[in-house]
Amino acid sequence: MTSQDTVADQPALSQSSTTQITLEINGVSRTLDIEARVSLLDALREYLKMTGTKKGCNQGACGACTVLCNGERILSCLALAVQYDGAEITTIEGLNANGELHPLQAAMIEHDGFQCGYCTPGQICSAIGMVHEFSSGLPSAVTEDITSDSIEFTEEEIKERMSGNLCRCGAYVGIRAAIMAAFRPQVTR
Ligand code: FES
Ligand code: FES
Repeated sequence: MTSQDTVADQPALSQSSTTQITLEINGVSRTLDIEARVSLLDALREYLKMTGTKKGCNQGACGACTVLCNGERILSCLALAVQYDGAEITTIEGLNANGELHPLQAAMIEHDGFQCGYCTPGQICSAIGMVHEFSSGLPSAVTEDITSDSIEFTEEEIKERMSGNLCRCGAYVGIRAAIMAAFRPQVTR
């Protein structure tokens, strides 16, 4: 901008344009007219009023906003909604089936996996994505033999793989116990 430029010469910052996208959220097709700058987290919470997914740091540091996208865990605060046009998104609201809690939801209750509950939706979605990664053979930073095709599902593996999900109440012991109880039989190979 030169000293001769006027405000009228600049792009009209207040003019916004929207893009139409469709997200498959918990098996339901939802169409939105949305600005390109809107995060998936805000699309869920502010546009669709699905407040189960939580906003913590809003900058990728706490994991509270974790959802599943085509079965993989992502941080919805760092994802632009328009990037996910056509994607299958699963949130905490979509995990129970026919009124039955997801096994991990039930295990979180049984093993005291939460206190205030704010981090819990993110913990649960993250753990489901984590188990998917584990079952597909992805090693972690604590996997001793990364060439092995049978990684043991240990507390250390869970700690490392869930380290992106913070719990300010410090319910980690219960969270790990719940994950172990819900998934160990299924991932022991
Ligand atoms: S709100 Fe997304 S990582 Fe904290
Ligand atoms: S249960 Fe309160 S932040 Fe985790």
